[in-house]
Amino acid sequence: MKEKMEKFIAPSLKDARKRITKETAHFYYQMDKRFMGLGKGKTYHLKTYGCQGNLADSEKISGLLKWMGYEKTDNDENADLIIFNTCAIRENAENRVFGELGRIKNLKKKNPNLIMALCGCMAQEEKVVEAIKKKYPQVDLVFGTHNIHLLPEYLEECMNNKERIIEVYSIEGDIIEEVPVVRDHNRRAWVNIMYGCDEFCTYCIVPYTRGKERSRLPEDIIKEVEQLAKDGYIEVTLLGQNVNAYGKDFIDCQYSFANLLEQLQKTSIKRIRFTTSHPRDLDDETIMVMGQGGNIMPHLHLPVQSGSNRILKKMNRKYTKEEYLEKIEKLRKAVPGISITTDIIVAFPGETEEDFEETLDLVRKADFEGAYTFIFSPREGTPASKYEDNLPMSVKKERLLTLNKLINEGYAKGNKRFEGKIVEVLVEGFSEKNDKFLMGYTPNNKLVNFEGDTSLIGSLVNVKIEKAFSWHLRGKIVK
Ligand code: SAH
Ligand code: SF4
Ligand code: F3S
Repeated sequence: MKEKMEKFIAPSLKDARKRITKETAHFYYQMDKRFMGLGKGKTYHLKTYGCQGNLADSEKISGLLKWMGYEKTDNDENADLIIFNTCAIRENAENRVFGELGRIKNLKKKNPNLIMALCGCMAQEEKVVEAIKKKYPQVDLVFGTHNIHLLPEYLEECMNNKERIIEVYSIEGDIIEEVPVVRDHNRRAWVNIMYGCDEFCTYCIVPYTRGKERSRLPEDIIKEVEQLAKDGYIEVTLLGQNVNAYGKDFIDCQYSFANLLEQLQKTSIKRIRFTTSHPRDLDDETIMVMGQGGNIMPHLHLPVQSGSNRILKKMNRKYTKEEYLEKIEKLRKAVPGISITTDIIVAFPGETEEDFEETLDLVRKADFEGAYTFIFSPREGTPASKYEDNLPMSVKKERLLTLNKLINEGYAKGNKRFEGKIVEVLVEGFSEKNDKFLMGYTPNNKLVNFEGDTSLIGSLVNVKIEKAFSWHLRGKIVK
């Protein structure tokens, strides 16, 4: 490959860790006309890894590319532009991306004009950018989570100057409103309410890759949700790494997540979900608003991470097992029938058999109806990556298996309680496994399969549940 010119601004985890309390700047994005048509006749392939935050970012990337004239393709073999929007949360997520980059190298041989870009949380990591610089010349463009809106400029430079661009900012971040979006669904939408995270759980890379906690203005969020309802959307999921910290960064006004939720409750959107909640910050006011029901769905994802107070402390989670269980009890009182799901990390450095038993005990007591479970993965630059970790992998895997068995019992039990009940389902499409069936989700976020006509896709229907399986429910439409 011929030598390329290079523009280079590298990330720095040290800078990314800094928090100065300057007020968040809100910018309103305006597309520069000169980029319009730059992508005309060209196609792009976008692959998204990681959390809903990344899915929402990818909708912005698609929005910008559409504005430029690009068309989306599901096939990367004939694309003019390939973008990987990546996740850095665990090592295996990263390894998959590096594997894919190897495959892309061959596509580049076939199409030398192909532009290959990498963005998202991996781009914010020093070691990833170093590896790309040295070992992955097939990557033409690297940008981070703070400068997505500059994508049209970068692409223009890539096309005109054929130079390699690596530009990643390790700043606290601002808020850029009104970046165009192309949404993946037409009934269900992601709505960012805040960006970043200031929790600094000791295992987690997110506060470094996403910058400080910064909240969108309530009026911007409410306007977006009202507009979505007008456009025929039925469900919104409010997004933030810690939605319960919403508003804490406002300097001159007191406005909390509970306030926002209460205002959104009055909009005409039929279903509201939100993720992720932090157990320490989930307050009584929010639980009270959830208790008013209406369009707020009876499901909460409340990551607990561990049931051992000693480990919770080492994780910097700032709550105890007892406090967590107390919050759950309050939730169940306020929202009868609520489904609670969680995230759990096993084999955090120093986790003993007793600590793990505490986690199992918490799971039994909490009655979770589902969980994402992970083996601890050291992330460079985080405090926990330096903690002594001497447990053999076989023990870690065994703990994960034991935990998953218990979690699966919770899944099954959570599904079983709906047998014989009539539930409202937002119909999303055909079942992936059996296209004789339609599929959709209930207010409690349970997956339901049932027979019905294509015309029902996108609407709310009532379904009587006939049978509960481990991972889904099956039923019949009722009038
Ligand atoms: N902001 C959310 C989600 C963060 S990432 C929250 O606070 O819950 C999603 C999940 O990934 C976390 O809840 C945690 O269980 C897991 N996770 C994060 N860092 C990890 C690491 N280093 N190793 C293993 N799992 C991790
Ligand atoms: Fe990571 Fe903790 Fe922030 Fe969640 S709350 S994103 S686990 S630092
Ligand atoms: Fe992954 Fe970044 Fe989300 S690390 S989980 S994509 S915030």
